[in-house]
Amino acid sequence: MIDLRSDTVTRPTPGMRRAMAEAEVGDDVYGEDPAVRELEERFADLMGHEAALFVPSGTMGNQIGMRLVCEPGQEVLCDADAHVVTYEMGAAAAVFGISTRTVVTGGRLDAAQLVEQVRGRDDWHLTATAAIAVENTHNRGGGLVQPLDQLEQLFAWSREHDVAVHLDGARLVNASVASGVPLATYGRLADTASVCLSKGLGAPVGSVLVGSAARIAAGRLWRKRLGGGMRQAGVLAAAGLYALDHHVERLATDHEHARLLAERLGVDPARVETNIVVVEDVAAPMVAEAAKAEGVLVSQVDARRLRLVTHLDVDKAGVERAADVVAGLIAR
Ligand SMILES: Cc1ncc(COP(=O)(O)O)c(C=O)c1O
Repeated sequence: MIDLRSDTVTRPTPGMRRAMAEAEVGDDVYGEDPAVRELEERFADLMGHEAALFVPSGTMGNQIGMRLVCEPGQEVLCDADAHVVTYEMGAAAAVFGISTRTVVTGGRLDAAQLVEQVRGRDDWHLTATAAIAVENTHNRGGGLVQPLDQLEQLFAWSREHDVAVHLDGARLVNASVASGVPLATYGRLADTASVCLSKGLGAPVGSVLVGSAARIAAGRLWRKRLGGGMRQAGVLAAAGLYALDHHVERLATDHEHARLLAERLGVDPARVETNIVVVEDVAAPMVAEAAKAEGVLVSQVDARRLRLVTHLDVDKAGVERAADVVAGLIAR
C-alpha cells in the first residue's frame, strides 16, 4: 500500500528505533528523564522561547497552550477551519470552559481580518478575546505557509492590545523548510506554540509546547492533570531528538513530491507550498475507493475533495505510482 492519507502514518525508521532503544531514561514526572529534558531544552532554544514541555499529542499541546493564554469564560479567536476547533473534539469548551469564535479565512492568515473581530476586555456585554490561534502550516488550507509579514503584523498588534497569540505549529518545521524562515522567527511571534514530532518529522508519538518559563511551569501542572505525565518518556523523546538530527532537511523532498503530485493531478501549483495536496472537484468517495483497490490510500476532505500528504515512508517511485493511479481515476 502507498499510504498518502496523512503524514501521521509514518513508522519509525531502523535508526530511530535504535535511538529509542538506547535512550537514557528516568521518571519524567520527577523531572528526571535526560532524553526528555534534552528534547525540551533543544526545542525551547530552536523556537526562541524560555521553556518547553513534551506532551503526548498535538491536541494536548494546543489545548494546554490555549489554556495558558485564555481563562475560562474568555474566547480564543481563530480561522473556521483551524485544527483547534475542527478536530480537537471541542476540548477548549469541554475541558477548559474556553469559548471559541471563528472567522472564515480560507486558510491564509490576514492579520487585519482577525484583528477586526477581537473583542476587548473592558466591555460588560461581550465575551473578551484573550487570544488568537494561528495555524502554520494550515492543514485544511492544504499545507499553506502563513506569510511572515502577516504574522509580524498580528503579533505587533497583539502586544499593544493585551491579546495573546497561540501558534498551532503541528507542521511548523515544514513551514520553516519551505519558506527558509527560521523556527525561532516563527516562535518569537507567539506566546505559546505547539510543534508535532509525529507528522512529517516521522516520530511515533509526541509534540512539544513552548512558552515563557512561568507558563510552561503552569503547563506542566495541566499536563499532569490531564493524565499526560509520562514516566520513562525518554524512549519517545529520543525519537524526537533523532528526527531533529535526521528528518528536517529531508522535508524538502516531501515538498518536491507534493509538487510532482500537483502537476500530475492538475492542482494549481500556487496552492501547494509544503507536503499537502488537495484535489478539488472530483468524485472523492469513488476515487478514494477505487485507488485503494489499486494499492493507493488517499483521504477525503469532503464529497468533492481529496487530500494526499507526502512523507518519509513514500519515495519518488511510490509518489509516481500514486499519481498514475489517481490521475487515471480522475480522468474516467
Ligand atoms: C494542524 C494540526 N494541529 C494539531 C494536530 C493534532 O495532533 P495530534 O494528532 O498529535 O493530536 C494535527 C494533527 O493532524 C494537525 O494537523
